[in-house]
Amino acid sequence: MVGRTVKAAVCERYGPPEVVQIRAVPNPVPADGEVLVEAFATTVNSGDARLRALRVPRGLGLPMRLRLGLTKPRIPIFGFEVAGRVTEVGKAVTRFQPGERVVASRGFDLGCHAEYVTVAEGGAIVRIPENLSHQDAVALCFGGTTALHFFRLGKLAPDEAVLINGASGAVGTMAVQLAKHLGAEVTAVCSGANAALVRGLGAEHVIDYTTEDFTRNGQRYDVVMDNHGNAPYGRVKGSLRPGGRFLMVIGNLWQTLAAAGQKATITGTATNSDSYQTLMSLAERRVLRPVIDSLLPFPQMVDAHRRVDGGHKVGCVVVTFQHSE
Ligand SMILES: NC(=O)c1ccc[n+]([C@@H]2O[C@H](COP(=O)([O-])OP(=O)(O)OC[C@H]3O[C@@H](n4cnc5c(N)ncnc54)[C@H](OP(=O)(O)O)[C@@H]3O)[C@@H](O)[C@H]2O)c1
Repeated sequence: MVGRTVKAAVCERYGPPEVVQIRAVPNPVPADGEVLVEAFATTVNSGDARLRALRVPRGLGLPMRLRLGLTKPRIPIFGFEVAGRVTEVGKAVTRFQPGERVVASRGFDLGCHAEYVTVAEGGAIVRIPENLSHQDAVALCFGGTTALHFFRLGKLAPDEAVLINGASGAVGTMAVQLAKHLGAEVTAVCSGANAALVRGLGAEHVIDYTTEDFTRNGQRYDVVMDNHGNAPYGRVKGSLRPGGRFLMVIGNLWQTLAAAGQKATITGTATNSDSYQTLMSLAERRVLRPVIDSLLPFPQMVDAHRRVDGGHKVGCVVVTFQHSE
């Protein structure tokens, strides 16, 4: 409805969690090929916190500022993904109808930290299976799409040994489960406090990084995935078997240059409806389960950013919206 306002979490300068403010913004209106989603749940993830604080890997400050906004965020409403109900569809939309429950991503167009969100029908948007809540559906997406993307590019195969460093965060908890589902033998690296969790998700072996350095224990893997940024190629190459692949989910400029030309996958994640559909289907069959660190109501958006900034969330921080019927 044109002229109405809705609430959104707006961030008009780089800084600590407190720079995020809940404000009234114009109600988004779906274009011909878009749907309007009434948000029931979204996530605040490591990507949102990095954007807010302009916390980018060393050596990438200038290119990231050019992309994200030189002095302040170019896109002031963050949020990669949303789960909710379709309330309006554009004239050209054929696949969705008002009332349907969907989960969707706007990728780096962001804008999902708002009560209403437009999403292109041809983008990453799928229906939520009946046995999943909005919170569960949205919690699968950030880490799930990243893990799927890296395992596909890195060609993780059944019976291969994979080590996942940073196994208890949003990406790690999905990576452990997806690697297990693919038939790999999973070694998870996390703090001792999260050992039982990652075993429950399917890890055969757990290494507590506070007491053991996996790069010095003599074990070798077909695939090593670094979700934390402290295990660059230079450190892990001795842990790779012949033909082994390195999946660098995060790393600075120098780590990236050192890995280039090796059997390494270094990339941003492509989000599309195929990967969303895969995640929802696996969750519907209970093969994949969401791991939710905390559920916070939308007015506590600043607390959600604080939790992510702590660096020790377990899985995903989910933010929920209340709508009057
Ligand atoms: N390339 C891409 O497209 C892409 C996509 C998504 C994310 N990312 C990046 O990937 C990284 C991971 O994202 P995320 O959302 O999973 O982060 P996250 O949820 O914030 O990860 C938190 C986890 O990191 C673990 N951790 C902390 N210190 C560690 C250490 N020294 N060694 C191993 N693990 C440690 C923590 O485990 P404990 O509590 O057990 O310590 C915690 O569970 C972020 O840097 C993010 O920016 C990249």
